This record gives sequence, structure tokens and C-alpha cells, in this order.
Amino acid sequence: METDFQKFLDELRSRLSVADVVGAKVKLVRKGKEYMGLCPFHNEKTPSFTVNEAKGFYHCFGCGAHGDIIKFEMEANGLPFMDAVTKLANKAGLRVPQISHENPEEVQKRSSWYEITELAATYFEKNLRLPIGQEGMAYFLRRGFDENIIKKFRLGYAPDNNGLCAWLASKNVRESDMIELGLAVLSEKNGKIYDFFRNRVIIPIMDKRGKVIAFGGRVMGNEQPKYLNSPDTPIFNKRRVLYNLNYARDKAFEKRRIVICEGYMDVIAQAKFGFDYAVAPLGTALTEEQIAEAWKICPEPTLCFDGDGAGIKAAIRSADRVLPMLKAGYSLKYVFLPDKMDPDEFLKAKGADEYEKALEHTVPLADLLWRKNIESLPTDTPEQKALFEKTVLEEVGKIGDEKVRSYYLQDMKKRIYDNFRQPINTAPKSEKGYSKRNVAAKTKMRPQPIKITLDDLVGKFIVSAMLCFPSLIGEYEEKTGMFEISNPDLKQLFEKMIEIYHENEDISYIDFYHMLQNKGFDKYLSGLWEVKMIRGQNPDIRKLRKEINNKIIEMQLQQLEKEMKQSLREMEASESFSETLFERYNMLEKERNILLTQQHEDDIIS
Ligand code: UTP
Ligand code: MN
Repeated sequence: METDFQKFLDELRSRLSVADVVGAKVKLVRKGKEYMGLCPFHNEKTPSFTVNEAKGFYHCFGCGAHGDIIKFEMEANGLPFMDAVTKLANKAGLRVPQISHENPEEVQKRSSWYEITELAATYFEKNLRLPIGQEGMAYFLRRGFDENIIKKFRLGYAPDNNGLCAWLASKNVRESDMIELGLAVLSEKNGKIYDFFRNRVIIPIMDKRGKVIAFGGRVMGNEQPKYLNSPDTPIFNKRRVLYNLNYARDKAFEKRRIVICEGYMDVIAQAKFGFDYAVAPLGTALTEEQIAEAWKICPEPTLCFDGDGAGIKAAIRSADRVLPMLKAGYSLKYVFLPDKMDPDEFLKAKGADEYEKALEHTVPLADLLWRKNIESLPTDTPEQKALFEKTVLEEVGKIGDEKVRSYYLQDMKKRIYDNFRQPINTAPKSEKGYSKRNVAAKTKMRPQPIKITLDDLVGKFIVSAMLCFPSLIGEYEEKTGMFEISNPDLKQLFEKMIEIYHENEDISYIDFYHMLQNKGFDKYLSGLWEVKMIRGQNPDIRKLRKEINNKIIEMQLQQLEKEMKQSLREMEASESFSETLFERYNMLEKERNILLTQQHEDDIIS
């Protein structure tokens, strides 16, 4: 519905000529239906700035500047919106109506709604400090929230005695308003109202300006539901609000970092540890409106999730949501905390320094998209590869901005190419397909050690682990000689790592990393998700060793399995019984059994 103010703006636009308004600043020459001039928004010698009177806008073919008379006043003269409108209204001889998007009655009511939520907030705060609120206070203290935090976030307590309704009534608040604001509920049984929040600790939700607009209430035990939030009301729209934006805005802007986490308790915990630029949606997945809000402050908000299934799912959901909105320079990045911890738990367990480190190891959106697909779709056969490529590129197609989309396309195509490229140094094969092994079998020697072909995922993991713990390179010396790394960039990196390691076997992770950065691997390393994952998880060398062993055995088994199948096929195809083939098959089988036992032992030890 068009408001009176919008009608007024239309009137303003229709009364004034664009050529007049723009002409006061720019010398215009008439060219057919349009006017042309030198663009006031960028430096130019030949005119590419046009004014179209009929359509009511100006447009520059040089720099893309575009808008109506109001925008022109704002941009060309640096005026705020209302000042531009007032200036134009004076010129047009119009009076600016009520400075609001709503009619006066609506505005009147609105301020009284804010007064009511403010009254409620004060009521909850007061109760927290009364004997009746003891349990609530104890709960907050138990969570480590001290007096400063309680004050700053205006934490409170809602007793189970319909006290809020009574208190608001004593302040002449109408019951219908209490209900409309979600503070009271109408009982269907007796037609009386009762408090919406009962026996819960209260977290007031404030808007950008710090005005209380809604509340969250948490039980103090294990009852359900754990959290109750105010319903949407005339002053509270869940989809638009980010909790703590009033405090976080300036800090986030200053530090160029805004952390979006899942719950308000996490926000408060972060503030307590000095991370005062965290915000959270209110019990819903992150919405487009909230992303746009965060982008106003920082072009790459950090989304912080726990690293387990639910967190990764939530991350993927946010990625799906943001793709159509992406624009040059604006994105999201991700932090996954280990062991199902949320920021609150992580900070308690590991402290601020570790949290800072975790925040620094972010996963870019493009990586997340890639991992999502490469980890969920099979890519063994050409058909599967084709479907995989189709899926990835379709996803990229969802990006609205043309420039961003084309770079994503380029990026994903490169990943696909790198990922599916054949290993470069497979030994040349004889017509029979396995010359070396044939010889080994014939001479009854143990077959050549099985090549360990590392696919992209395993390769990246192992190389990253060895980067984080350089001593692992020494430990796995014998095995690394058998590695065949299919990804050429990764292969190059690993060869350089071995070289550096042999020059200094005591090298630390930091020095190692820096040295590799200086050797031209900077860009590749920064995209190596696994390093961030491992470092972000408070790495444990024993755990990594076990994972490496498992993965190597897994790869060897795969390789063996393949060769056994091949060998079976050959036996079936050969006309008569071939002892050589038979022996070779047996040998492979033995090898496989050894590996299976090893794998089994490893599992038992852990
Ligand atoms: P979580 O269940 O992850 O809770 O919900 P939490 O933030 O870790 O809270 P604590 O540490 O147990 O106190 C995350 C968010 O989901 C919404 C809330 O907004 C909460 O902050 N939520 C959760 C609800 O709205 N209702 C619920 O019952 C549970
Ligand atoms: Mn929690």
C-alpha cells in the first residue's frame, strides 16, 4: 500500500524537471529526446552523462551513475535523504508532510509500543534482583555472566505469577496492546490474560538503536521448549533483526569483522571475552534481510558454526541463501568449531586466544560450495563426473551478479579440472597391463610395494597434517616415497615440503608455513581448507597419525581391490589356466589380508 509520504514523493518528482534539477549543477545540451553533459560523478572529457526527462532519471554510460532527482541531490550535493527532499520541496513549492513512512496515528502508537516493551524490560530486570528472581540470578552467575554483563544486556527474570500483566495494567497499558506485543496471552478458558514468559530468565532483544522490541526467555533447567521468543509483533520482525546489532555495529565496523553465531547466549559469552562484534539471528536460519544488514557493516561476515553435521548443514543452508545475493566484494566466510562446541562452550573450554585463532581460520564460501558437492556426489565414472560438473555449474548459475558468477564459474571449472586430471606419473603399462607385477609373480618375489595413489581429499589431508606437524614427514619417509598425488599443485607443494624438511628437520609449523608462502605457494596454501581444519581443531599428533595410517591403508586397499578385479578379469579371459595369473592373484590377496589385519589392529589400539 502506498503511504502518504510515497504519494508526496511522486508528486515532487512529477512537479520538478530532472533537466532543471541536474542543470543547476551540470551544463546540459539537448540531443534528441535526451540531454547530455559531462558526468559530475566521474572525470571525463567527452560527455557520457544523459538526462531523460520523460523517464525522470539521469544515467551515465561511463560510470553507471543512475537515479532520480532525489538521488541526484543526495549524491551530487552530499545531502542526507530528508534534506534532499526538503530542498526539492522548497523548489517545487510543496510542504513536506509528516517525516515518517507511516501515518501520524501509526507513529503515535508505535512510540507507545516501545514504551510498553521498555516497561516490561525494566520489570524483568527488577525481578532478577528480587528474592523471587534468585533462581534466575543464580542461573546467570552459574553461566559466568557477571554484574557488568547482566547490566549491559539488561538480563532479567520472569516469575510465574502473572506479575507483568498486573504491573503493565497498573501503568494503564491496555490488555490488547500487551497481547499484540506478545507479552500476554489470552486464555481461551476464562477470557483472562496471563504472562507469556513464566519462570524463565529473560534476554531482551533490542533493535539497532538499542530500543527493546522483544524478548527471549530461557528455562533454567531442562524443560522444553528451552527458549521462547516473542512472536512477531508490529515492532518485531524476526527475519530482520540481528541480536546485539546495537552494540556490535560500531565495533564490527571498526574491526572489520562481524561474527554471526547461532544463539544470543553465544553473543553474550563472546562479549564477555572481548569479542564484542558478534550478532545472532533469533532462532531461525539466517535470512536474506539479516545478511544484507550485516553487509552494511562488513563485506565478509564470519559465520560461526559447530563443525558437526548440524553446523555444516546450517552453513550450507546459508550458502544457498546467499548465492543469489552475492555482489562484487561481498561474501560470507565460515568458521567451524570442533567437537560440537558453540562459541560459548569453546570460549569456556579454551579461552579467548584459541577462539581468536579459530576466527582467523575461515573457510571461504567458494570452498564450502565445492566441498559440499565433492563430498556428497560420486565421481568415479565419466557419467558421474559429468553429473557432478553439471550440478556444480548449475549451482554457480544461481549467483545473480554477472561478474561474480563468471569468476565462480572460472574457479569451479579449475577445481573440476584439477580434481579429475589423471595422475601424471603412472608407470607406462605393457599390453598385458601390469608388466612389473608379472615379473615379480614369476620370480616368486614379493610384489613391488603397492603405490599409494592419493585422491584429492586424502592427499590434501595428509599433506596438510604433515604441514602442521613437519616431523610426520620424517616418520612417514618410507611411505611418502610411494605416494602418487593426483593433484599437480598439491604434488608440487608436497615435493617442496619434503625438500625444506630435509634442510631442517626441526622446523616449526609457523616457519614451514612462511617458507612455503615465500616459495610461491601462498595462494594455494590459503585455499587449503584442511590446514585450517586441523589447526582449528586443537590438533593432536597421535590422532592425526592414526588418521593418516587409516587413510593410507584405505587407499592401498582400494588400489589392491582394483588390481585384484583386473587380475580376475584376465584370468577369466585367458583360454587356459594360467599359473602366473593365479599366483599374482594370490599374492594380491595376501597383501590385502595383511592390510586388513593392520587396519583392524589400528582400530583395536585406539
Ligand atoms: P541452541 O539450542 O544451540 O542453544 O539454540 P544455545 O544458544 O547453545 O543456548 P544454551 O547455551 O543451551 O543456553 C540456538 C538458538 O536457537 C533458538 C534460540 O534463539 C537459541 O539462541 N532456539 C533454541 C529457540 O528459539 N528455541 C529453542 O527451544 C531452542
Ligand atoms: Mn550453548
